[in-house]
Amino acid sequence: TIDVRGLYSNLGYFTYDPGFLSTASCRSSITFLDGEKGILQYGGYPIEELADKSTFLETCYLLMHGELPNTEELMEFTHVITYHTMLNEAVKRFYSGFRRRSHPMAIMVGVVGALSSFYHEGIDIRNAKSRMIAAHQLIAKMPTIAAWSYRYASGLPFTYPQNHLGYAENFLYMMFSMPTEEYTPDPYFAKALDLIMILHADHEQNASTSTVRLTGSSEANPFAAVCAGIASLWGPAHGGANEAVIKMLLDIVESDNDVAYYIDRAKDKDDQFRLMGFGHRVYKNHDPRATIIRETCHELIEHLGEGNEYEELFETAMELERIALEDDYFVSRNLYPNVDFYSGIILLAMGIPLNMFTVIFAMSRTVGWISHWNEMIQDPESRIGRPRQLYDGALPREYIDVEKRT
Ligand code: ACO
Repeated sequence: TIDVRGLYSNLGYFTYDPGFLSTASCRSSITFLDGEKGILQYGGYPIEELADKSTFLETCYLLMHGELPNTEELMEFTHVITYHTMLNEAVKRFYSGFRRRSHPMAIMVGVVGALSSFYHEGIDIRNAKSRMIAAHQLIAKMPTIAAWSYRYASGLPFTYPQNHLGYAENFLYMMFSMPTEEYTPDPYFAKALDLIMILHADHEQNASTSTVRLTGSSEANPFAAVCAGIASLWGPAHGGANEAVIKMLLDIVESDNDVAYYIDRAKDKDDQFRLMGFGHRVYKNHDPRATIIRETCHELIEHLGEGNEYEELFETAMELERIALEDDYFVSRNLYPNVDFYSGIILLAMGIPLNMFTVIFAMSRTVGWISHWNEMIQDPESRIGRPRQLYDGALPREYIDVEKRT
């Protein structure tokens, strides 16, 4: 029995857990995470092995079906995803309603939500086949929506998907192809992007995935639920961190690499500044994705050759990591680099503009969101999400007419 300010005595028992630090909201068999040991597995496969041997589309299949596909299943899945990459021509016109130079995440939230207007009536969320079609549509169309958000915001003509290209290559093609110039995606960049997408594909009950589940728990259609997830991802404490990391690193480089100054600011409790790309709610050892991505970043910098403009940024990032990990403030709070600390340098080196970083995160996480939505709909224990609260507002009082109020 909970007695809030002497008002109620029959609210029953519930936990008060701001930020859900110790509350599980569901069962899930998609992703396993042990933050103390720094372990991440999709469907039982270690992230390190998937990063080394798998591809993004194969990983998508694993997250959606719980098993890796055989050759035939992978071919069929690849064909279906490729088949759905086009957007209805009417969607193209939505873009012209947005302010030019909008943040591409703002456009993405709007356009993905608007997909409901095409598919809402056709979805039967109780039917497994119908749910799978919606999942395929979302995974397939996301790169097109993402690239077009950039093209519109930059005043460039839209580029249609090329179905002979792979998932990552197709996205790069739609981003950078010009009517005046033939463009062939660099296979090295496409592979690095594919890896980044594998690492971001799912991360169990993070803020955006929980948002998708909560939205979908009212039986809203999956396009609306994923749109809510994109909105949640946008914040700098979540997916927006990759953009913020680069801004921070560029500031540090500009300050003549005064790394110590930024470390001191991050430790100062009177300063709102935090080391972006550092810390994680669940990882209290290291983020295994950060280890993989640091290595890829290193390889990419070497691939670009000595003296390239990203070398200094990478060195600054490593110096920041080195100093922070020797500092008691960060060590005692288990603050290590997270997946976004090094991913931004890779994206920047590919020519991806800063404001597209979180969009790429959203594109990669779509499969995780939709897999969780699909799992939730089928779960007999699943109910509409409805957190409780501790009321600490005004006590009951009399209504006073407006003219008598002081
Ligand atoms: N820089 C400096 N101090 C930090 C940082 C940081 N990046 N992160 C946490 N801390 C400190 C807090 O000030 C707090 O200190 P205190 O105990 O003295 O009060 C302590 O570490 C615990 O921090 P919380 O905010 O309580 O941890 P929480 O689990 O709520 O937050 C979060 C996790 C949001 C990721 C946080 O570490 C952060 O803001 N990091 C920077 C943003 C970032 O990189 N986000 C991406 C996360 S990964 C992802 O979404 C893909």
